Amino acid sequence: MQGIRGLAAALNSSGRFKYKTPEIAVDHLVIGAGVVGLAIAQRLCEKFPTKSTYVVERHERAGEEISSRNSEVIHAGLYYPADSLKTRLSIRGRELMYERCQEYSVPHRKTGKLVVATEEQRLYIENLHRKATKMEWPPHSSSSLSSPALPTKLISGDEARIMEPNLSTNIAAALWSPETGIVDSHSLMESLEKDILDSDAGDLAYATRIVRVDPYLPESSKEEHDVQGWVVQTATGDDTENVESDPILARTVFNASGLSGPFILNSLLPAEKRIPMYYGRGSYASYKGPGVSGISHLIYPCPDVGPNAHAFASLGTHLTLDMNGKIKFGPDIEYISPQSEEDVDFWARHLVPDDSKLNEMHDAVTKYLPGITLEGLQPDYVGIRPKLVPPGAGAFQDFIFRTDYPSQFGGGGAMGQGPMISLLGIESPGLTSSLAIAEYVVDDIFGGIST
Ligand SMILES: Cc1cc2nc3c(=O)[nH]c(=O)nc-3n(C[C@H](O)[C@H](O)[C@H](O)COP(=O)(O)OP(=O)(O)OC[C@H]3O[C@@H](n4cnc5c(N)ncnc54)[C@H](O)[C@@H]3O)c2cc1C
Ligand SMILES: *[C@@H]1O[C@H](CO)[C@@H](O)[C@H](O)[C@H]1NC(C)=O
Ligand SMILES: *[C@@H]1O[C@H](CO)[C@@H](O)[C@H](O)[C@H]1NC(C)=O
Repeated sequence: MQGIRGLAAALNSSGRFKYKTPEIAVDHLVIGAGVVGLAIAQRLCEKFPTKSTYVVERHERAGEEISSRNSEVIHAGLYYPADSLKTRLSIRGRELMYERCQEYSVPHRKTGKLVVATEEQRLYIENLHRKATKMEWPPHSSSSLSSPALPTKLISGDEARIMEPNLSTNIAAALWSPETGIVDSHSLMESLEKDILDSDAGDLAYATRIVRVDPYLPESSKEEHDVQGWVVQTATGDDTENVESDPILARTVFNASGLSGPFILNSLLPAEKRIPMYYGRGSYASYKGPGVSGISHLIYPCPDVGPNAHAFASLGTHLTLDMNGKIKFGPDIEYISPQSEEDVDFWARHLVPDDSKLNEMHDAVTKYLPGITLEGLQPDYVGIRPKLVPPGAGAFQDFIFRTDYPSQFGGGGAMGQGPMISLLGIESPGLTSSLAIAEYVVDDIFGGIST
């Protein structure tokens, strides 16, 4: 745990790109075409069909970073504090997710999930159950208020073994979550992309990077009163030395840049106010072998809540299924550090899965599925969690939504004009929550400012 560094880097720290006067303007600029940026853009196009919405993504297609390297689980919303945004947005997001999957034929399955407990861990699932029972539907929900927002059932070890015969006899009890499921995240992103492109309001630019962001400096005092926003410079291509940037005036910026989240904001903040980011690497292994006869539900252990607790850092190495019925275990958690502040994409070097984790993973999963063999585990893929707190910080960290205005940074306009809404720390359950994050950001935060 010692020696983990955060990264407090800022965009354009070399000063390579200078301020430019914009020649074109958009109403809404969304940074990042991960599942969250696409969901926000889709909602903007739907709610504001006469305004322009422009999504900028540095890769050649959507979801190349966090959104394609996760467990693809539609979480019920069990784990987080009752009054947190993570709970609120995963319950509402789950509802929106199943609705959208049905309406747009996005492959998904409501598998249900078992959180399995040994005798010593029984209290943990009893507490989850008690909290779940009290949970109410969050704002915007459309479900009948008489249906439970977070249905769960406590069952005995024997009942759990009837559902999953290969569970260890050490499992004394389990929490059954019928609302948990899995989704094909790529099909989900495709459905959002299609909505954006089919609308008159939206456009997507791939292979295009944001290289600099400034508050807009109006050129005349007349302009000062009607135009507020941000000058966002984009560049295409990898040649950072020679590339020319294009300045766009964005009246509102939605920053959904995932692992690069704080860099843009940091480029505007004084050094001591910069936001450091930590990176939690999670490895997955696929499994073929004995000990998983007829498995049809997701199986999660109780998170480690001991002295070196990761309870909020990771849910523990669990079993998930994909839409093809393939079994995988993961993700574990290992914090990784950059070599220097310039090394902003250092995490990309850590995406190659290796077999160094397999022994530990085998130890973890045989606690609840004792028939799993080491030989059946194969390194599969790796995902990186954007963490706002360093390892061992212990405390719960919620999603953060932060709004800044050009006037705070020497730009034109008054407070409340030309907002930039930044999304920080959108780790799990960010996929589940994506559609509810869009609703919250567009309807509640942006809607609250623009009226
Ligand atoms: C190991 C792991 C397991 C997870 N499991 C689950 C799960 O089972 N269920 C669940 O609900 N959630 C899960 N999550 C969380 C979920 O995957 C994320 O919350 C979600 O995918 C985040 O989406 P995003 O759009 O914010 O980020 P991303 O998908 O990373 O999108 C951000 C985009 O911004 C782009 N970008 C960045 N900087 C720039 C720039 N300067 N210019 C242009 N574009 C830029 C990037 O290229 C990227 O495409 C998991 C996460 C991890 C890491
Ligand atoms: C966008 O948000 C990320 C954090 O998610 C942050 O690093 C970056 O600075 C933000 N960009 C802008 C323009 O604020
Ligand atoms: C798994 O369950 C199957 C079917 O009940 C059984 O035949 C097999 O022996 C079990 N294997 C282990 C390792 O428990």
